[in-house]
This record gives sequence, structure tokens and C-alpha cells, in this order.
Amino acid sequence: MEQQLNTLLTLAKEKLATISSSELLEEFRIEFLGRKGEFTSIMKGLAQVPKEDKPKLGQMANKAKKDIEALYRDLHAKLSAGSAGNTGESSIDLTLPGRKPETGKLHPVTQIMNEVCSIFEGLGFSVAEGPDVEHDHYNFEALNIPAHHPARDMHDTFYVSDSILLRTHTSPMQARIMETQQPPLRVIAPGKVYRCDSDITHTPMFHQVEGFLVDKNISFADLKGVLTIFTQKMFDKDLELRFRPSFFPFTEPSAEVDIACVICNGKGCRVCKRTGWLEILGAGMVDPEVFKMVGYDPEVYSGFAFGLGIERIAMLKYGIDDIRLYYENDLRFLSQF
Ligand code: DAH
Repeated sequence: MEQQLNTLLTLAKEKLATISSSELLEEFRIEFLGRKGEFTSIMKGLAQVPKEDKPKLGQMANKAKKDIEALYRDLHAKLSAGSAGNTGESSIDLTLPGRKPETGKLHPVTQIMNEVCSIFEGLGFSVAEGPDVEHDHYNFEALNIPAHHPARDMHDTFYVSDSILLRTHTSPMQARIMETQQPPLRVIAPGKVYRCDSDITHTPMFHQVEGFLVDKNISFADLKGVLTIFTQKMFDKDLELRFRPSFFPFTEPSAEVDIACVICNGKGCRVCKRTGWLEILGAGMVDPEVFKMVGYDPEVYSGFAFGLGIERIAMLKYGIDDIRLYYENDLRFLSQF
């Protein structure tokens, strides 16, 4: 039996030296160490040996088993480390290409928002932020939109209660600022606004920047000058502007402002629906009624106001035709900006 154990040990060592894969090693384990393996069958012979030899042979058998198990474990560790790399010597494969570190970026809407704000800051405007959850009073009443005014229909308002709502535009900041400060004022108010509307050009939440300037002797020409500089800087082009008469309850006169199409330079294309023009904002001279409500004398002060949609500008600037892309969190889209 002693000899059987020695032979088994030698055989095991020889066999292990030829094993190069986990599959072969598993076969080895079953053959030598398994319940029906070589070692077990030798141990069965222990029952037949004379009583006085049993302790010594028992010890020898235990040692042989431990030796084989140790050799098995060594090779097992080597092979599983090797399967992560190349040769079994190391778990790092130096031939693999490196992984590029990914750097985060600002969301394209945030980038455009920052750009818009910095252009107006360069023109001497200060930045003010107000609440997303707003009083009906500031969102409508103070802007000359009383209850039941038909203009409320256009706003698709999310109401929180009868008098509290999610602001539908950033214009309430006109009333909030004028109520607490005296002219001269040059303010922009960026932020989120909400409307119950969703399709390829509308999302229930979007971003606007409100701007207004109030002083003595402010005219429509000042509005035109400021917006011309803004659009030139925003689109890096000498763009023509077009003012179309429009109506907003808080400005009189009011206009919708178009720029020459940035895609076709005004020649007419799919994006501008062959008109050569793209609408980019609403604007006008602050309505005397708004001044009266905040306690300014409309005979002394005049001012202009405008409101622009950030997503709309981002879409025009980057030639994107579905606004929802901005909010799907697809990094393949977002990382292009
Ligand atoms: N608040 C308007 C809207 O969301 C946009 C707007 C139009 C703002 C004219 C103005 C303005 O300040 O003068 O549709």
C-alpha cells in the first residue's frame, strides 16, 4: 500500500505537469481526488492491512492526499489567473488597447443657457432667478392677463391649486423685479417653465430667458438694437431680423421676432418651411398697465421686454428637429455638444 501511495503521488505530479487548461485540471481532480477516484480506491485497501500498520499507513495516506491537493490548488490558481490575461503568468494583458477616461459635459441646453446669459451680461444685464412654482398673480394677473382672459388658453397651465401653478413662462419675473426695484433696470431671468404640451417641438418642461430694460426714453429702436447684437453673437453671423406685429397682454406694441434662416441664409429650405425666416422670440414695449400695477408712472418710464425659448435656439443652432432628444438622456446624442 505504501508503494501504491508513492506511485500515485508520482503519477499525479507527472499528470499535473502536462495540464494546461481548467477543463483538463477538472478531469484530473475527478480522477485523483474524486469520490470514485484513485485515491479513494487505495484508501479502501486500508481496511485489509494489519491493525498495527494502520496508524502509519493512515498518516502516509493523509500526507499523500494533502500533497496532491496542494499541487492541485496551485495549478488551479495559476490557470484561473491566466484566463483573465494571456499566459497564466499575469492577469494583466498589456496588449489590450487602453480605456479612454470619459469626461462629463454640460447638457446642451445648459450650454446654450449659459451662452445666452453671458451675451446679455456683456450688454450690462444682471441675472435674476425666480420660483418655478408661482402665484397666479405673478404668472397672469400682474402681466395684464386677468382671470378669464382668452390669452390664458394659450398657456396650457399645470395648476397646483386655484391660485398656485407651475409658471408657464419666465415673464412673472418682470413683475417680481419691478415690484421691488426702481428703474433703471436691465435684467434677464433664465429658468424652467412648464406647459401641458408634448410633441416634436414641445416638452412639458422647457427653458426660457426673459429680458427687460426699463428707463426713461426707451424706445422700440433700443429693443431692436439689443436683439440684433444678441442674435449676431448667438449665431456668429450678421443675421437679418424681422419684427412681425403680434399680441401679448403685457407688451404694447408686441412683436414676434424672426431671424433669417440659419440653415439656408434666408433662401428658403425645409427647416424654415421655405419662408427664409425662423421665429426665435416674442418681444415688445412694456404695457403701461404692467407699469401701473407695480407702481411705476408710465408717463415717466418706458421699457422693452422679450422672452426666448432656449431649446428652440439650441435646435436652430444645431439643426435638431425633435426637441425630445434633449430629454432622453441618450449619451450618444448628448456627447456631441
Ligand atoms: N412670455 C411669452 C411666452 O412665453 C414670451 C414673451 C413675449 C415674453 C413677449 C416677453 C414679451 O417679455 O415681451 O410666450
